[in-house]
Amino acid sequence: MSTTVDQSTLPPVPRCSMLYSIKEYYYAIRPNLPKFTEKDYPDLSDKLAIVTGMNTGIGYEVCKLLLAKNCTVIGVVRTQSRGDLAAENLIKETQVSKEKLQIIAGCDFTKFETVKQTGLSLQNKLEGKTINLIIHNAGLMSSRNDLSNEDGIEAMFATNVMGPQLLQHFLDPLFLKKDSSLKRIVWVSSLAHFSSPSNYGVNWDDPTYKDVSSRPSSSVLYGQSKAINIYQAKIWADLNHADKYGIISTSCFPGILKTELTRDYSFVVKNIAKRLFWDSKYGAYSELYAALSPDLSKQGEYVVPFGEVHEPREDIKLGLSNGAGLKIWEYVEEQIKQYF
Ligand SMILES: NC(=O)c1ccc[n+]([C@@H]2O[C@H](COP(=O)([O-])OP(=O)(O)OC[C@H]3O[C@@H](n4cnc5c(N)ncnc54)[C@H](OP(=O)(O)O)[C@@H]3O)[C@@H](O)[C@H]2O)c1
Repeated sequence: MSTTVDQSTLPPVPRCSMLYSIKEYYYAIRPNLPKFTEKDYPDLSDKLAIVTGMNTGIGYEVCKLLLAKNCTVIGVVRTQSRGDLAAENLIKETQVSKEKLQIIAGCDFTKFETVKQTGLSLQNKLEGKTINLIIHNAGLMSSRNDLSNEDGIEAMFATNVMGPQLLQHFLDPLFLKKDSSLKRIVWVSSLAHFSSPSNYGVNWDDPTYKDVSSRPSSSVLYGQSKAINIYQAKIWADLNHADKYGIISTSCFPGILKTELTRDYSFVVKNIAKRLFWDSKYGAYSELYAALSPDLSKQGEYVVPFGEVHEPREDIKLGLSNGAGLKIWEYVEEQIKQYF
């Protein structure tokens, strides 16, 4: 299987404004306060949401807010015990019945066979039911650039890009239906996409960076994965004619938040995060703006904290419609199709 993507057909990369990047970084530090919060959410009694990576951080807070509005939530997690503990705490905190929150564990986004098994379990569980929200929230931001999965694929690319696209493949037949007026997908991205490679955000010579010695810094690797999340939101919608089903698919940078995302960073970084970053609940406001706000109607919009739409970096914005996003989507499909 080729690891290189032919980029010769892509238009020249536009010049990206440094000023715009600085503005967006500044905004991320001092975002506007959330306007769309629990007081504005509709009752979600007959709605069902799938949230990945909900045992901690933003995902946990997203579930808490959804459960408080009576939504049924299926949490997809990697580790059973972490999922069960989160479920126990969420049920205690929200006082909802146990049936409202179910955990599907064992989904490790770096191990594609486990993602396939999770997809099949979800198909069994949800056959005939309406899925209203899918929040691809699970994610890895490592300080290391040498982590790989068992196939040698760089770990952040596997976790943040390939895993969600594979899981979505199994959800598509259940989700692509015109069966509710509320149907959304949120692909959780990041401001870090500004540090992705300058050529439409992707290292086209080998997006999976199998050659460890060729890898750039961990921040560029994370940035690439998060740039691709922005593409996934739009390309998934285009390829699946999301409009036809009334589905809206967006990407979302949730904010700079106190979560476990910096878990393998130094003591100093963790301390800065603890003191300066926003509480994780604010990240949930961003994701739930993307999931619930009636203001959103366009496919592939980029939601920023704590519930606004901005534009991504210029080349990524262009790549949403000029073939770059489609190219990387198709490349990922090629890499994961053996699990279909
Ligand atoms: N926090 C921020 O400032 C920030 C900023 C921008 C974007 N984001 C994005 O927001 C999302 C949520 O992150 P967070 O801040 O809430 O981080 P977090 O507290 O570390 O939560 C990450 C979640 O993803 C799960 N996860 C990580 N690797 C996985 C794997 N290989 N397979 C399955 N699940 C995996 C974790 O499960 P385990 O507990 O089992 O590891 C956890 O449930 C991520 O996509 C992140 O990139 C966060």
